[in-house]
Amino acid sequence: MDISQLSDDEFHALRNIMYEASGVKLLVTKKPLVISRLRKRLKELEIDNFKDYLEMIDKPHSKEMEIFINAITTNETFFYRHPEHFYFLTKTIFPSLLEREETSGKPELKVWSAGCSTGEEPYSVAIACKEFFKNHPQWNIIIYAADINSAVLDFCRKGVYSERSVERMPQYLRKQYFDVVETDTSYKGQQFYLHRDIVHSVKFLQHNLLTTFPIGNFDIIFLRNVMIYFDRASKQKVVSLIERNLIQGGYFFTSMAESLHDIRSHLRFVYTGIYQKE
Ligand SMILES: C[S@@+](CC[C@H](N)C(=O)[O-])C[C@H]1O[C@@H](n2cnc3c(N)ncnc32)[C@H](O)[C@@H]1O
Repeated sequence: MDISQLSDDEFHALRNIMYEASGVKLLVTKKPLVISRLRKRLKELEIDNFKDYLEMIDKPHSKEMEIFINAITTNETFFYRHPEHFYFLTKTIFPSLLEREETSGKPELKVWSAGCSTGEEPYSVAIACKEFFKNHPQWNIIIYAADINSAVLDFCRKGVYSERSVERMPQYLRKQYFDVVETDTSYKGQQFYLHRDIVHSVKFLQHNLLTTFPIGNFDIIFLRNVMIYFDRASKQKVVSLIERNLIQGGYFFTSMAESLHDIRSHLRFVYTGIYQKE
């Protein structure tokens, strides 16, 4: 049988399962993409139709459900994505934290990269922190990163990247924080090994944004290029949950292309894609 035969009913069933599990709303136009992402998995399972596959994933706590979510999520990311945000971090937020410390006496910064994908975002934050706070060694920098996709988290912990991942970050930082290894196996023949102190400075965990994150009191939360796959209801739910994990005055980052204009929250606009909790 031809595996590319996914009926509209089966596609709608897969869409519903993905939506209920993650908040991700697959557009109808994504049907060919879903087929191509699942084809390899069906072959591995020696299944030749989507009806049997649906039965496999549509069971509570099924291992196949996790593999399905890993296959369907879109994990596009790279180091220093939206450079304006890193500029804002180092020129506005970090200096304000130093001022805050003068009164609070607590030299601590807590950041969460939510929907971290393969790790480029939290590691970019770790590099930005390392650069800024090198003259303030008493500061305790705590960075958490989480994603629903269990496969990307394994990748993150290795800290090894392709040229495509690092090519848009400032060159002097790339030179400073990576060791380059020539290889025959990667696409452009080079792999970039992130320095181990940066790799070890980020704590990775699996987390679904539709549920409460177990750690709170963050100064900064990144949720960039994740809600673009959500409908308004999922977006509202996730923002309402996540803003509770921010301290008052804490910052919330979405991407440069996203906004919270249609969402009820205690987050007020400060800059494109950046909000602050009232
Ligand atoms: C396009 S990547 C964004 C990566 C990074 N934040 C960036 O801006 O470069 C979107 C990530 O959101 C994750 N994601 C989607 N739904 C999620 C959910 N319900 N809970 C946690 N992560 C989710 C996906 O697995 C994917 O890795």
